[in-house]
Amino acid sequence: MRAAVYRRFGGPDVVQIDEVATPEPGPDEILIRVHATTVSAADHRSRARDIPRGLTLPSSLVLGFRRPKRPVLGMDAAGVVAAVGSEIDEFSVGDEVVAMLGSRFGGHAEYAIAAKGDAIVHKPRALDFAAAASIVFGGITAQAFLNQVDVRKGTRVLVNGASGAVGASVVQLAAAVGAHVTGVTSAANSEMVRSLGAQRTIDYAEHDFSADGCVYDVVVDCVGNAPVRRIRASVARGGAVLLIAGDLRSLLLARRDARRYGITVVTAPGRYRAEDLKHVFQLAEEGVLRPTIDRVYSFDDIAEAHRYVDTGRKRGSVVVQVCEALAAGPSRCSTKRA
Ligand SMILES: NC(=O)c1ccc[n+]([C@@H]2O[C@H](COP(=O)([O-])OP(=O)(O)OC[C@H]3O[C@@H](n4cnc5c(N)ncnc54)[C@H](OP(=O)(O)O)[C@@H]3O)[C@@H](O)[C@H]2O)c1
Repeated sequence: MRAAVYRRFGGPDVVQIDEVATPEPGPDEILIRVHATTVSAADHRSRARDIPRGLTLPSSLVLGFRRPKRPVLGMDAAGVVAAVGSEIDEFSVGDEVVAMLGSRFGGHAEYAIAAKGDAIVHKPRALDFAAAASIVFGGITAQAFLNQVDVRKGTRVLVNGASGAVGASVVQLAAAVGAHVTGVTSAANSEMVRSLGAQRTIDYAEHDFSADGCVYDVVVDCVGNAPVRRIRASVARGGAVLLIAGDLRSLLLARRDARRYGITVVTAPGRYRAEDLKHVFQLAEEGVLRPTIDRVYSFDDIAEAHRYVDTGRKRGSVVVQVCEALAAGPSRCSTKRA
């Protein structure tokens, strides 16, 4: 099969399309013919080793020390089940599915493996593969963090980095339950963030949300520049901070900060669960959660997709179309050489 392979850490050009062996599903695994995937912030971080301060060592255990442990990136996949192991009964060959592969990676290839217990769900018919892929990474991360706090009608939620894949999902999921959402974003993305359900936006270039006296019940940091020590005055007593992009120091101080300031500090999404992905796609099917696609690249141009993601300026998701579905009959890879 063709896969986007990186054999050393570095810039976008380390990613090359190569022929590699098609993975064989084990008894508890599913082989997905990938139609669409995304280049996410996690792919950027992994490839470039752009890891939050202090976390390089622990992340190397997963990513590799000298060279990449898993040479195919891609944390998500939307596609068609091509084969199932003997222990799989929830999915059959031909099913259209979406999966969060997480640190298993492998979505940037014509075929990817997901395992029983991973977050895999049937793709809603109303969404095409590109739209479905665009929802997975941000949607499940946002839901996994939000599960750990109480967000409901009237909860004051501030989302720092509201226009990224995760931020855009947090805005929509919080707005969907009636929270009052403030999005911290550049002026250029303010309109987009409002269109996703934020009642208010703050331009970070003009205004420091942590210094204006406003208080929120839940502050969600999707940028990594809002550690508790900087923003504690903006968090209501009994409130919460979700450190989606925290560095080692923030993570180590989380318990102490929580005790000291009487707040909840959440530092990890926990296990990615199928029920969360199901919920997110249910909302997408109902039109409550909109796919937020910035750009779509062909598989052959995946290095360009990485180059764009490296800017740190993407709005929502950057999708890569790997194979395309034919109106009738089997899928084919649009980028396959004749
Ligand atoms: N803990 C976990 O398990 C977990 C899981 C998933 C993701 N993450 C992390 O969460 C972070 C967000 O992920 P993502 O996918 O949403 O990233 P992303 O899509 O790459 O975020 C890009 C967005 O960030 C905005 N941004 C950049 N600097 C900003 C600032 N100073 N203030 C406000 N917004 C700013 C940009 O908007 P402008 O152009 O308007 O500035 C852009 O729209 C990443 O660091 C990622 O590694 C962690």
